[in-house]
Amino acid sequence: MSVEELLKVHGKPPREVYFDNENSGHVPREVVEEMIPYFNSVGYGHPSITHRPGWEAYEVIHRTKELLAEVLNAGGVGEFALVHSGTEANNLAVLGHAIANREGGGKIVVSAIEHLSVIHPAEEAGRLFGFKVVRVPVDSEGFVDPEIFKEVVDRDTSLVSVQMVNHEIGTVQNVYELSKIAKEVNPKAVFHTDAADAFGKLPMDLKKLEYVDMVTLSSHKIHGPRGVGALFIREGVRLEPILRGQLSSEKMWPGVENVPLIAGFRKAVELAFQDFDINVAKMRMLRDVLVRGILDRVPEVLLNGPADFSRRAPDNANLSFLYVEGEALTVELSINGVYVSSGSACTSRILEPSHVLLAIGRKHEEAHGSILFKTTRYHTQEDIDYTLEVIPRAVSRLRSISAARRT
Ligand SMILES: Cc1ncc(COP(=O)(O)O)c(C=O)c1O
Repeated sequence: MSVEELLKVHGKPPREVYFDNENSGHVPREVVEEMIPYFNSVGYGHPSITHRPGWEAYEVIHRTKELLAEVLNAGGVGEFALVHSGTEANNLAVLGHAIANREGGGKIVVSAIEHLSVIHPAEEAGRLFGFKVVRVPVDSEGFVDPEIFKEVVDRDTSLVSVQMVNHEIGTVQNVYELSKIAKEVNPKAVFHTDAADAFGKLPMDLKKLEYVDMVTLSSHKIHGPRGVGALFIREGVRLEPILRGQLSSEKMWPGVENVPLIAGFRKAVELAFQDFDINVAKMRMLRDVLVRGILDRVPEVLLNGPADFSRRAPDNANLSFLYVEGEALTVELSINGVYVSSGSACTSRILEPSHVLLAIGRKHEEAHGSILFKTTRYHTQEDIDYTLEVIPRAVSRLRSISAARRT
C-alpha cells in the first residue's frame, strides 16, 4: 500500500494527541509568524553582504546567538555556531575536532547510548584518521558509572562525548562530574555534550559547566522549525569546519544561513525560556500522570530508563509493552489519534531494536515492544486522560491477536 493510500484509509481521527516529540513536533503559531517576514519583506538578503536586507539578516543571526548566550549563561566564554540540525552540530563537534587534531591522534570516548549522530562520526574519525573509538558501557538505567569512566579516559584521550540527556530513556547524566574527571586525567582532552534533549528542559549554565567545551542544541526539540541547530564552542577549542565552500558570517559552516528558520529558532528559544520553570513543571506533571496511569491500567509493562524521576528528563516516558510489537502498537494508537514512536524514534522505520535499549540490557523483544512518549507544555490533562483510555484497549486488542496466533 502506498503512503497516499494508507493515509486515505487512516483518515483524520476526531481527537489527536501527539507525543512523538523526540522525532519532531508542531511549531506554534508565534514561531511561524516570526519566520514569515524573513522570506520576502525583511532580512531576505545574504547576511555577509553590505546592504540593508543583508544587515537585517545578519542582525537575526547576531540576536539569536546573543539570546542563546543569555539563556545558557555563556556570555564571554565561547561562541555559538549555527548549523542546520542537531545532527550537523554533533558531526561538527566530533569530525571537526578530529580534523583539527588529526596529527595528535588518540582516543575518542563516547557513551554506548549516544545518539547515532555522535557514534557514527566517531567511527568515521577512527576510519579516516586512526582515532581509537571506545564506547563506555552504561548501567541498566543508562547511567555512565564514573568509576568505569575513570578507567577508560586516559592521557591519550583526545575527545569525550557524553550526552546530557538520553533522547530515548531520559537518563540525565552527571555531565559536570564526568567532564571534571576527563580534565583531571587529561587537561587537553576536549569534552562535548549533546544537549539536544536537555535544552529547554533542564537548567543549563555554561559558566558553571566549566569543563564542558562543546554543546549541541537542536531547534525542533523545543518547538522551533526543523533545520536549525547550534554548537557552542568554548574559547580556545580547536575545531575545523567539516564542509568546504564559501564561508559566510558563520566561520564553522559554509553556505548562506537559513535566516527565516533561524528567526523561528530564536522565537522558540524565547518562548521556552520565558516561563521555563512553569513549562518544565507542566511537562513533568503530565508525564508523571501518564506513566502512573499506564502502569496502573496495563499489566506487564516495563519502564525503560531511571525509576528515580528526579534523575530523568521531565518529559520522557519510555515503556515496553510485553507481548506486543511496538510498530503494531504505533499504528493501532495512530488510528485512535495518539501519535508515538517505537523502539527508537530515529530507527523505527528500520525495525532494528534500539541500541540504547540493548545497551541497558533489554532483550530484543522488550526493545521491540517499547513506546516513547514525550510530554510538552502544550499538552493538557484531557490529552492524558484520552490517551489513558485508548492505550489499555489498544494493547489488549493486540495482545489478544498475538495470543490467538500463538495458539
Ligand atoms: C540527543 C539527540 N541528539 C541529536 C539529535 C539530532 O538532532 P536533529 O534531529 O536536529 O538532527 C537528536 C534528534 O532526534 C537527539 O535526540
